[in-house]
Amino acid sequence: MSHASATQTPPQDRPPFQPPRGAEVIPILDFGSQYAQLIARRVREAGAFGILVAPDIEPGALQAMEPRGIILSGGPSSVGAHGAPRCHPDLFSLGVPMLGICYGMQLGCQMMGGRVEAAEAREYGRAKLRIRDARDLLHGIPADTSVWMSHGDQVHDLDETFEVLASTSTCPYAVVRHRERPFYGVQFHPEVTHTPHGVDVLRNFLYEICLCRGTWRMSDFLEAACDRVREQVGTTGRIICGLSGGVDSSVVAALLAKAIGERVTCIFVDNGLLRKNERELVEVTFRDHFDVDLRVVDASAQFLSDLAGITDPQEKRRRIGHRFVDVFREAAREVGPEARFLAQGTLYPDVIESGQGHAGRSANIKLHHNVGGLPEDLGFELVEPLRDLFKDEVRKLGEVLGLPDQIVWRHPFPGPGLAVRVIGEVNPHRLDLLRECDEILLEEIIAHNLYRSTDQVFAVLLPIRSVGVMGDGRSYDSVVAIRAVETQDFMTADWARIPYDVLAGISSRIINEVRGVGRVVYDISSKPPATIEWE
Ligand code: XMP
Repeated sequence: MSHASATQTPPQDRPPFQPPRGAEVIPILDFGSQYAQLIARRVREAGAFGILVAPDIEPGALQAMEPRGIILSGGPSSVGAHGAPRCHPDLFSLGVPMLGICYGMQLGCQMMGGRVEAAEAREYGRAKLRIRDARDLLHGIPADTSVWMSHGDQVHDLDETFEVLASTSTCPYAVVRHRERPFYGVQFHPEVTHTPHGVDVLRNFLYEICLCRGTWRMSDFLEAACDRVREQVGTTGRIICGLSGGVDSSVVAALLAKAIGERVTCIFVDNGLLRKNERELVEVTFRDHFDVDLRVVDASAQFLSDLAGITDPQEKRRRIGHRFVDVFREAAREVGPEARFLAQGTLYPDVIESGQGHAGRSANIKLHHNVGGLPEDLGFELVEPLRDLFKDEVRKLGEVLGLPDQIVWRHPFPGPGLAVRVIGEVNPHRLDLLRECDEILLEEIIAHNLYRSTDQVFAVLLPIRSVGVMGDGRSYDSVVAIRAVETQDFMTADWARIPYDVLAGISSRIINEVRGVGRVVYDISSKPPATIEWE
């Protein structure tokens, strides 16, 4: 996971957006919907370059992007409310096809003469859509289909300049088309999976209406992101990139290596809390395959001495966080004064979680905790090339960059490392014990093809011992818990139904091969109420 708690460049200070050369650009005006970035991603999946822009973007700036089409996102406001976000009225006369979604539809209809009012009842959930006109936007979609609604207001009273393409029982203007201008509106959310034909609606907009050809590829994003980095740092600037071995920071490092070559210095802090062979994997990947200036700082002795005798989870995190900042600051200082930039693997969900969507209005839906984030006073300008992407898009980008599967498909690993998985006192002996168990666990999970179907799998060393029989004698050894979860976003998670036989194999290997462990238990708690880590 990336460090969302560090400073983020405010959207207005970011370098101007440069679309990838030759890309079919679909700017998405972000009115603050929690789904705005999802629209961008669906557009990218469909082969056009969807990118979020501020809702009040000037028509000139929008035209400079040479858009094939424009999408107006949903949003939490009421169109008529004081201060509700609006777009520039001239956008509707650019002649560029537009699709308004939910709030975007209401705004477009209102700005072109319609009336928007509170619906009789707030509508949330599935609704049945009746299609009347399946020519362009709704081409090929079954006449009766299910759509996902989430709105309090809806359009009333449209005059004859609009045609109704589909309705639901409570929403007469569920899909509309303007007769003179290339404006379409949908009251439902085509971008969410609960709308089974939503992707088809978006594809119809792109291919039937905007006449896109579907030329966009992740490699185009890479080119554009590299251009953006070069522009931001100029011809002499040097970037420091904190490498954790996780997919986000690894993709950032590989991208920077491509963009500015030897002007990136990666710093990898070995805090003594890593998994077995983790440091070697990072060294081999980045020294041998990417030829970057990689500095490995072995600070394990300091971290372990900070942790000696500490059992309180919050105190462990606090000490690790402080030490990390000190070590990183010192390593960065040694790189030299021309290193004014710090790269971070901030992803779009991190931007949302910290309430900094493009429009600055996205509700702060998620709470994120990231110990090891860097404080603002380090004095760097941030470089965040992944902040428009979702995790799975980052993995695709990692593949395009040629990162090994082992890194691209890595499960997340927390910043404070094994310290949150050695419950109670953290010392070298207990860490080694856990590393052995963890290695066996992952070997078995990978061998049974379960690594890609689970989202996070790890072992936890508990601070208790239990009785057993070993040969003729009695044993009194440690207990290890296995945690395996399936999750979309790590905010909620379910325990993975690992087959019993696989669990049996893991348990017997750990008990037989790791001296000092006498019992293995499987964690069957979901999140919430349990968290993923034990701490
Ligand atoms: P919890 O335990 O809160 O974890 O359910 C959710 C996800 O966050 C990871 N995690 C962290 N990641 N620094 C990180 O970079 C941290 O301090 C941290 N703590 C938890 C955890 O592994 C899971 O993926």
